[in-house]
Amino acid sequence: MEDNIQFIELQKIDLSNVELKGRILDIGGGGEGIIGQLKGEQVVAIDRRESELKEAAPGDYLKIIMDAKDLQFLDETFDTTTAFFTLMYIPLSNHQKVFQEIYRVTKKGGEFVIWDFIIPNRGISDKDLYGLYLEVKIGEKKISTGYATKWNKEQDLEYYLNLGASIGFKSVEKKIMDQMFYIRFQKV
Ligand SMILES: C[S@@+](CC[C@H](N)C(=O)[O-])C[C@H]1O[C@@H](n2cnc3c(N)ncnc32)[C@H](O)[C@@H]1O
Repeated sequence: MEDNIQFIELQKIDLSNVELKGRILDIGGGGEGIIGQLKGEQVVAIDRRESELKEAAPGDYLKIIMDAKDLQFLDETFDTTTAFFTLMYIPLSNHQKVFQEIYRVTKKGGEFVIWDFIIPNRGISDKDLYGLYLEVKIGEKKISTGYATKWNKEQDLEYYLNLGASIGFKSVEKKIMDQMFYIRFQKV
């Protein structure tokens, strides 16, 4: 399986001092459940796969099976919405719908925070998947993980900045960290 994945070199991220306010909706919060591990009972983690939620690290956060394309929450429910290496798994054709749903359930003045990585054009590569190994630091805790997705798309910081702006989000912070990027949008 790993033979079929084009991995980039190990990426490292320190979330210890990340500020995420109020009630948090974590999109695709199964897997390692990083945001749940980081912010505990502030977090409602949704994932369309039950198995991913069951495997996620235990913690005080709420886990709900739900599709990001059709969020079962009232408008303006969350102070913060996060997507930690989740958008890379969602087909580009669904991104607009997912962003609209996130915009809808985020409170006015609230934030949408994204961590993801650059996926270049596949070109002539024979690898079907593109991925990264990631070391996440939360205080004294270090979590080693890896994420890989079908290499049938390209994405970068600019792509998400444009998408967010087209939905009505204002970008208030953005950063490229090696092959990864981070965006903090605000619903104005
Ligand atoms: C592997 S996780 C990414 C990392 C995860 N946030 C963590 O903390 O480890 C990505 C998750 O997004 C979920 N996902 C993909 N498309 C989704 C969608 N449309 N709605 C909800 N979850 C989705 C996948 O099932 C997967 O569990």
